[in-house]
Amino acid sequence: MHIHRLEKIWLLFGTGMLIVFLTVVGVGAFALGMEPPGHHRHTVDPEKLSTTEPFNRPGLHAIGGNAYEANIIAFTFSYSPSIMEVPLGAKVTFNVTTPDVVHGFQVVGTNINMMVVPGEVNHLTYTFDKPGEYLVLCNEYCGAAHEAMMMKIIVK
Ligand code: CUA
Repeated sequence: MHIHRLEKIWLLFGTGMLIVFLTVVGVGAFALGMEPPGHHRHTVDPEKLSTTEPFNRPGLHAIGGNAYEANIIAFTFSYSPSIMEVPLGAKVTFNVTTPDVVHGFQVVGTNINMMVVPGEVNHLTYTFDKPGEYLVLCNEYCGAAHEAMMMKIIVK
C-alpha cells in the first residue's frame, strides 16, 4: 500500500501530539497527583444515612455566630427537609447526599448548583443576604416524578 509522503507526515504529527497530550495528562494525574477541584472527598454509606453523621439530623443547625450547617438528603422524588427556614444573613454550609440515584440540588436565583451522587457528600457554602422564598430544584433526570422534585428555602 502506498501512503503519500504528506499523509505520513500528518500521521506522525497526529500520533506525536496524542503521545504528548497523554503524557501531560498522565504525569499530572499519576506523578503530581492532580485531581478535579475540591480539596477532599467525603464519602458515606448510602444505606446508612439515618444513622450516619450529619445525615441522622437533616435540616439547619447553628454552628456558631451566624454560621449554620444544612444537612440535606435528596431522594426520589423529594428532599429532606422539604422546607427549611434560614435567618437573613446566615452563612450556610450545605452537606448534600442521596441514598438512591443521582439528583441535582439547584437553588434558583443563587449560584448554588450541585450534583448529588449516592455515596458522596457535596459541600458548598453560601450566605443568604436577600430575604425571600428560594425554590430548590432537581436538575438531573431521576425518574418518573423528577419534575416534581423540589424543596423550599425561606430566608427571613
Ligand atoms: Cu431528583 Cu430529578
